Amino acid sequence: MNDRGIPLIDARRRSPAPDATATLQRQPVTDSRGRRLGDLRISVTDRCNFRCVYCMPKTVFGRDYPFLPRDELLSFEEIARIARAFVARGVSKIRLTGGEPLLRRNIEHLIELLAAIPGIELTLTTNGSLLTRKAKALRDAGLTRVTVSLDALDDATFRAMNDADYPVAQVLAGIDAAEAAGLTPVKINMVVKRGTNDQAILPMARHFHASGRILRFIEFMDVGSSNDWKLDEVLPSEQVVKLIDAELPLEPIDANYPGEVAQRWRYRDGGGEIGVISSVTRAFCASCTRARLSTDGKLYTCLFAQSGHDLRALLRQQRPEEEIDAALAAIWRSRDDRYSELRCAATTHAKKIEMSYIGG
Ligand code: GTP
Ligand code: 5AD
Ligand code: SF4
Ligand code: SF4
Repeated sequence: MNDRGIPLIDARRRSPAPDATATLQRQPVTDSRGRRLGDLRISVTDRCNFRCVYCMPKTVFGRDYPFLPRDELLSFEEIARIARAFVARGVSKIRLTGGEPLLRRNIEHLIELLAAIPGIELTLTTNGSLLTRKAKALRDAGLTRVTVSLDALDDATFRAMNDADYPVAQVLAGIDAAEAAGLTPVKINMVVKRGTNDQAILPMARHFHASGRILRFIEFMDVGSSNDWKLDEVLPSEQVVKLIDAELPLEPIDANYPGEVAQRWRYRDGGGEIGVISSVTRAFCASCTRARLSTDGKLYTCLFAQSGHDLRALLRQQRPEEEIDAALAAIWRSRDDRYSELRCAATTHAKKIEMSYIGG
């Protein structure tokens, strides 16, 4: 078992030894603030079939939202090679993100490659639109669980958030399909934007109460430079908890693991739990163990970073594994990021990397 209680799978029983990184011993690395490297979030595509107003608006400065050319993307083999190097340095959870990760063709194959790495939890964040078609294949390929984004239960509000005229019913069907396939517990992420979907908080809480699904409310963040973020559109998590507690009483519970982003609350009537993610009102940088790999192979040590480190160049120059390992260990050791703790007017308007590219 690893430190999150996840059974270790012997990769060699599932696939041939992939390459030299598979034989590297685990050598955990910590950054300049003593934070270990623990999670890797990989953006497998910067494309999406939604245009959520808080993430990827339809147009930026009057032009269609721009995407990377396809030949810039890391191949699955390149992603798996980098992932193995990260695991050798202490990563025990890998999350596939995007954009919408299920839009990447044959994503199941990447999941097979990653699931063959011993000792990791492998999960994915999706908008749910393709889950009815893909859930079983994802599970068969070795995915552990999924997190589905859903910002309201009524079509008018949901459409106002996804800006792609996408109906709620299709996402709910996707959540059912994920559960039926065993991708559990399914978590639901709701970004709360004051004035746009705050009236959807209680209906969402009622719907997922006692359902076995874990609903998490996320404060609208100033990530990227194109979502026109304003502080007065952030609804503090404290108010979300107060609102729900008045109807469905709640009590706080401990984190599942050190550095968990969500603060957990359980329904006093035994109807399960919710989470709140308060990156604006209660920063959690002090325990941040997350590295992010962009679609084109750059390593970002913070969601709000302004630049990344080009790992793809190392891979394509055929550098030996030891060199890749040394590069990523050196990058992590010198890491000093704590954007959310330092957030202020000046940082909010700085040019930042978009979440769909960096891997939410
Ligand atoms: P599990 O606990 O494994 O279920 O996942 P998680 O909560 O770590 O990941 P998830 O992708 O569900 O995170 C939910 C949301 O929290 C993201 O979509 C972001 O909005 C926010 N978030 C996650 N990690 C960070 C982070 O490092 N910094 C900030 N500022 N926000 C984050
Ligand atoms: N603020 C908070 N969360 C965001 N996400 C994307 N953009 C933002 C933002 N501006 C997160 C949501 C969504 C996931 C894909 O990315 O959690 O569910
Ligand atoms: Fe797409 Fe997710 Fe961004 Fe919405 S939040 S536009 S679903 S990547
Ligand atoms: Fe980690 Fe940066 Fe988010 Fe802070 S702002 S929790 S350092 S990703």
